[in-house]
Amino acid sequence: MCGIVAYTGFRDARPILIEGLKRLEYRGYDSAGIAIVNNGLKVRKSAGRISVLENLITHDDLRGTCGMAHTRWATHGAPNDVNAHPHTDASGRIALIHNGIIENYKALRTYLEHRGVEFKSETDTEVLVQLIGHFYTKDLETAVRTALQDVRGTYGIAVVCSEEPGKIVAARKGSPLIIGVGDGEYVVASDAAAIVQHTTQVIYLNDGEMAVVWDDGFKTTTLDAMPVNKEVTELEITLEDIELSGHEHFMLKEILEQPAAMADCMRGRVTVSDGRIHLGGLANLTRELVRTKRFILTGCGTAWHAGLIGEYLFEDLARIPAEVEYASEFRYRNPIIEPGTVVIAISQSGETADTLAALREARDKGALAIGAVNVVGSTIARETDAGVYLHVGPEIGVASTKAYIGQVLVLTMIALYLGRRRHLSQPDLQAYIEALDSIPEKVRQITQQSAEIRVVADKFKDSENWLYLGRGYNYPTALEGALKLKEISYIHAEGMPAAEMKHGPIALITKDMPVVFIATKNSQYDKVISNIEEVRARSGRVIAVATEGDKDIASLAEHVFYVPDVPEPLQPLVTIIPLQLLAYHAAVLRGCDVDKPRNLAKSVTVE
Ligand code: G6P
Repeated sequence: MCGIVAYTGFRDARPILIEGLKRLEYRGYDSAGIAIVNNGLKVRKSAGRISVLENLITHDDLRGTCGMAHTRWATHGAPNDVNAHPHTDASGRIALIHNGIIENYKALRTYLEHRGVEFKSETDTEVLVQLIGHFYTKDLETAVRTALQDVRGTYGIAVVCSEEPGKIVAARKGSPLIIGVGDGEYVVASDAAAIVQHTTQVIYLNDGEMAVVWDDGFKTTTLDAMPVNKEVTELEITLEDIELSGHEHFMLKEILEQPAAMADCMRGRVTVSDGRIHLGGLANLTRELVRTKRFILTGCGTAWHAGLIGEYLFEDLARIPAEVEYASEFRYRNPIIEPGTVVIAISQSGETADTLAALREARDKGALAIGAVNVVGSTIARETDAGVYLHVGPEIGVASTKAYIGQVLVLTMIALYLGRRRHLSQPDLQAYIEALDSIPEKVRQITQQSAEIRVVADKFKDSENWLYLGRGYNYPTALEGALKLKEISYIHAEGMPAAEMKHGPIALITKDMPVVFIATKNSQYDKVISNIEEVRARSGRVIAVATEGDKDIASLAEHVFYVPDVPEPLQPLVTIIPLQLLAYHAAVLRGCDVDKPRNLAKSVTVE
């Protein structure tokens, strides 16, 4: 979603800001803009890609050592030049970039219009900069502080003023902001990806905090002007993590990185030699967790699919009741949280607004909160009582792959960790640990089928409707496989439990309908074979993900992608890999922009 990058220091700001915007591109956006302070304020912005903005400013004299830039993902108002950020106040002295939503913007706009302010855009953001301009009397920090007292909603903002060159005022409530601390220069950004090239020393602003940054210093306070001492910490990501490193797309890079990501996720946690699962983040809460009455797993999109697998894992391996909830629905249905409930918030970014809101709802009602989060120091990570980081490295591809694997893996480890303390025997745990230990190599072998999967993708890429079917542990994989395909190739795909097909969707099956079955050898294998027969009887085109050595399925399916045999609860870790590759190749072959799929955002910070 929207991205913020601002710079003050001694270097020319423009190339730093444009480079920063490119680093934020993956988050999803539909317009971009830049402001430079140097003997006045110069603002340029345009709808479309960053390259459009670059073309626009090629011949401009936009030099200066302080400025800011933004990528916007439209919420209020169409994605056009006028609605793009930065927005300026009526005097043209103050510019602001904003991530989030100002909920009471209509009332504030009416208030300002009655005082003669004329608005240029349809955005909620312009209301905030006009309000700051309204309060401005030669002190930007005070004007921002005063304006924010009147604002309801979420924001991460950066503000500059031509009368106070070299100064950036930043504030956050519900939308992340990080300050990169260099030597005589500072980068304020909504995402570490825009900072890491310049410095790995950072400060994370908390909700309700403000920062004033100038070329040789900064100060941090609460919104109420109370001083706050912030610790400078080391970023965990490297530049290499966020670069293509010779790959055609980030999505492919991240699919291929999954064996290493799984090894990183399990490092020090899954140890074959002592036959134990170590989860340091949960150590202090183990007694409470073992006695949990009910787990609620919540997340959005791909993370919700991981939660669905978690539901099976927790009930199967730990014998603890579990349910998975869409974070967006959970919050608004006044959920019943009984004593002994533990909520697990699952999120790659740790910033998804719906997941955060669900987490807060559960905590407010007394639930213990655990995070399964990738981004270290993110809001969800900080608002949970404890957690298990995914540690799969930054994920840039909008369609989640390695973070999904990390989420499933973390939930598997938690289920085994608790399972052993309840019903699971040591030999059974040992067998799971050994299987987990060998999984990264098995996943690497699956990725070697990429060329064959591409051939299948080519054959079916023009089919506009696909079904994905599975039972038990393979059902969430069907949902995730379908989501991958629709996200990046814009093909309509539905995933569902295989048995549900006959209750309606079977009406769709024709000779033109690819039906992907996840049909590994497990407790429900025979039932799935019956479902395959039902599809074949209606001339549907069957593609199967099956267990190596299963020769029977080859006579039923038009194409089979084989995966190594692993214990049933671990099958989601291998079955999704060919489906990620299938979606990837279909999208590339259809000419889609895999890493920047239309309308999607990597991190959705609005509800
Ligand atoms: C967006 C992304 C999805 C992701 C979902 C949840 O919709 O496009 O890929 O699954 O948000 O994101 P999170 O960061 O909370 O895992």
